[in-house]
Amino acid sequence: MMSHRAFRLFVVALLVATALPCSAQRKAVEAEHAMVVSAHELATQAGVEILKKGGNSIDAAVATGFAMAVTFPFAGNIGGGGFMLIHLADGRDLVIDYRETAPAAATRDMYLDAEDNVLKGPGSSTVGWRASGVPGTVAGFALAHQKYGSGKVKWAELLEPARRLAADGHIVSQETAERFQKEVELLEQFDETKRIYLKNGTLWKPGELWKQPELAATFARLQKHGPEEFYTGETARRIEEAMAKNNGTINRADLKSYKPVERVPLRGTYRGHEIVTVPPPSSGGIALLQMLAMLEPFEIGPLGHNSAAKYHLFVEVMRRAFRDRAERLGDPDFVKLSVQQLLDRSYLTGLMENYDPAKATPNEALAPSVPAPAEPQDTTHYSVIDAAGNAVSNTYTLNGAFGSGVTIPGTGILMNNEMDDFTAKVGVKNLFGLLQGPQNAIEPGKRPLSSMTPTFVRKDGNLLLITGSPGGPTIINTVLQVITNMIDHGMPVMAAVEAPRIHHQWIPDEMTHERYGISPDTAEKLRAMGHTVRERTSYEGANQGDAETIALDPQTGRRLGASDPRKPDAKAIGF
Ligand code: DON
Repeated sequence: MMSHRAFRLFVVALLVATALPCSAQRKAVEAEHAMVVSAHELATQAGVEILKKGGNSIDAAVATGFAMAVTFPFAGNIGGGGFMLIHLADGRDLVIDYRETAPAAATRDMYLDAEDNVLKGPGSSTVGWRASGVPGTVAGFALAHQKYGSGKVKWAELLEPARRLAADGHIVSQETAERFQKEVELLEQFDETKRIYLKNGTLWKPGELWKQPELAATFARLQKHGPEEFYTGETARRIEEAMAKNNGTINRADLKSYKPVERVPLRGTYRGHEIVTVPPPSSGGIALLQMLAMLEPFEIGPLGHNSAAKYHLFVEVMRRAFRDRAERLGDPDFVKLSVQQLLDRSYLTGLMENYDPAKATPNEALAPSVPAPAEPQDTTHYSVIDAAGNAVSNTYTLNGAFGSGVTIPGTGILMNNEMDDFTAKVGVKNLFGLLQGPQNAIEPGKRPLSSMTPTFVRKDGNLLLITGSPGGPTIINTVLQVITNMIDHGMPVMAAVEAPRIHHQWIPDEMTHERYGISPDTAEKLRAMGHTVRERTSYEGANQGDAETIALDPQTGRRLGASDPRKPDAKAIGF
């Protein structure tokens, strides 16, 4: 029998042990100077290699992006586009919008058949030669490098890790092999795609060495002739020729006229923190700032991270922000948007006036005059910081996994299906189940509305967080939850990234949650309030995005790299 004293000691020891930081949680990778976090280890290494050569985080981000096109072909790309949020050590913040544009031949109803129904399969906005917007990645990366790179690493050097990975090959991971397998139906429709990504139908197995000589040759041309080669050189010629042969929509003039746009980031505040994020044509920044403003009057910390009360509140702000997204947003170069009005605090307080802490707001109570649209499935986000404090938060994509499924013969370039992010028809949902409005209708040269949300959080002028995620519309809610997990729940960055996430996008009127992410009694409480609660099954199984994030310790400035466990190949490397 344990003596009374021994028992007391045992209880004290138990209390001490449980008060210690939980050892079951993964630690962030810590480093003093610099950090790269991406969804693929070899792409992270490419960025680190450039930093070690004296490059800054912008140079490293470009090299990581090119390497992702080799090692993470479902989303990494040179045939797609995205948004790069940059913080310069001198204090400036800026956005490079290298979103794809609709080609000149695009028309508002190009994806409708004679009966006005939205086309499916080849020829639609999701599959094949008519699904692509004009790619922006190479031009966006070139602008970033020329204007904001360190000047110490040449363009050709930034491409070299990617060229080497493509030429020498890399080992196919379990995740990669599974992704190929999962998308067989799309990939086998196009001969060149089938040959490269499905090993001509025999399928790549984990552990095999996979070389991509055509892609390596494309990188070599870009090294030799510069980024313009993609838009006016041999690569452009091959894109045009293949497009023409297959009734595609993109021609040489579209490529030649593509321009990335430098934009001013959106800024907001949340409980004394500054949030810096992307403006339209992404909806992500506006929706994120709207949700944070709607949440701010509520005390969230005491509700607990995953209580029914907290999820109810979050679903209600998500519902309201996504309704606005659907109705109001589009490319600001083409449609009138009042960002100021959408972010106005009294407007947002007004949106929450009919919030009931005990009951779900019926969607009809928010009913828009125009139904909103939806979005598609593979994107990737990575974060970089260098020793001087320059930081990059970059999200880019082909849209769906492997984009349109089309590979331009002889180039290794997979083309995006970003045209599906436009409104094919008002009232009809897109690949992501999003409804979209006339603001986002197709017009030549216009950029489709995005949800990509690369974001920074700052406190007292110091950078605290670099984050973002893939996941179509879920991106915005993933970023929201990473930020609130840290600010409201005081989670360390790794826990904030790992914690289970939820999503609501107004339509469909349901809250989804990750597998094991919510207890049956919590779900029951939410149902009793009138919510539809469903376990997530789309986008990479049951996961909601992967937030490849860097936090900075406010006391020491140390870089904390949090690679998201939802992506087994993801890696944070610092030094
Ligand atoms: O721009 C957008 O919002 C979409 N094209 C992003 C697609 C995406 O995140 C797919 N990811 N899993």
